[in-house]
Amino acid sequence: MRREDFGTDQRGNSVELFTLQNKNGTQAKISTLGAALVSFARKDKTGVLRDVVLGYDKAEDYLSDGSRGYYFGATVGRNANRIANAVITIDGREYALEANSGSNNLHSGSCGVSHRIWEADCLDDERNRVALKCFSADLEQGFPGNMTMKVSYTLTEDDALHIEYEAVSDKDTVANFTNHSYFNLGGHDSGDIGNQKLKIYAKAFTPLTKDTSIPTGEIRPVKGTPLDFTEFKEIGKEIAQDYEQLIYARGYDHNFLLDNDGKTALAAEAACEETGIHLYAYTDCPGVQLYTANFVEEHKGKGGAVYGERHGFCLESQYVPDACHNPQFQTPFLKAGETYRSETVYKLGLDR
Ligand code: GLA
Repeated sequence: MRREDFGTDQRGNSVELFTLQNKNGTQAKISTLGAALVSFARKDKTGVLRDVVLGYDKAEDYLSDGSRGYYFGATVGRNANRIANAVITIDGREYALEANSGSNNLHSGSCGVSHRIWEADCLDDERNRVALKCFSADLEQGFPGNMTMKVSYTLTEDDALHIEYEAVSDKDTVANFTNHSYFNLGGHDSGDIGNQKLKIYAKAFTPLTKDTSIPTGEIRPVKGTPLDFTEFKEIGKEIAQDYEQLIYARGYDHNFLLDNDGKTALAAEAACEETGIHLYAYTDCPGVQLYTANFVEEHKGKGGAVYGERHGFCLESQYVPDACHNPQFQTPFLKAGETYRSETVYKLGLDR
């Protein structure tokens, strides 16, 4: 495992970068800042190593005003996605959170663990695994409970990156972690992802409310809508259709309901004809958020690449957004002393 300097955070604390590599030459780079996946690369069908996630060359770029809100590759918690009106009720008590997306809370607030330095907890060369740890104090960002969270990345010989989360709190709270990688299977620097094909193992999605992006509570079958990815379809094929839900979100930014019974199962696949790279996403989470970089503005990323709108797609495994206010969905509450555990796997295959 390679361990190198990746720059500093806003207080001058040093950030490290770990590189995992297997015998096929597949690589995953993980930064202690936000426990983020900075690079995930495998050989394409011509033997060229392709990095298929968007990111930056140094820690400082992850913290600049222009890029903070993109969460490139970051571990997002304690609660991924939105909480309506930035308030959560736990054990009869209301907790005010930061309203950082209109009147809602998004990704736990602007100084969440996705922008903090995590501590290297366990570096296991033999298993090709790096585990990072972070502590969040009681009422930090408004959430109750002193919480210790861990995330580990393990790169296996079949080119799968296993991401495992663990969290424990001393008070009842919420736990809902995700990884916010933006995939571009043509290579992170290859532009629009519109012609890459996607399949999602979900028969229904949760429509959003206009302007707030909070799920209405409805469970809508995907059949007959542009959100039907039950068979492989180009991501761009119907993205510009005159369909209310796509207009509200400026593209796809929707949660799909998975049918995995809480066990790790295939949630989505994506493929790029040019490179032959094929992504398999597995999770034990009840939902996956498809986000097509609808709000990413033109700016510089890794190695001088120019990133912009629709230059990546995210498959964020998580609970249904705002599920804490919608008991008909599985809710993200965690009891004091109990351990939250969840797993997501991103595997890179090859179509020839
Ligand atoms: C998630 C949200 C999007 C957006 C991105 C980050 O995917 O659903 O609306 O906030 O995170 O930019």
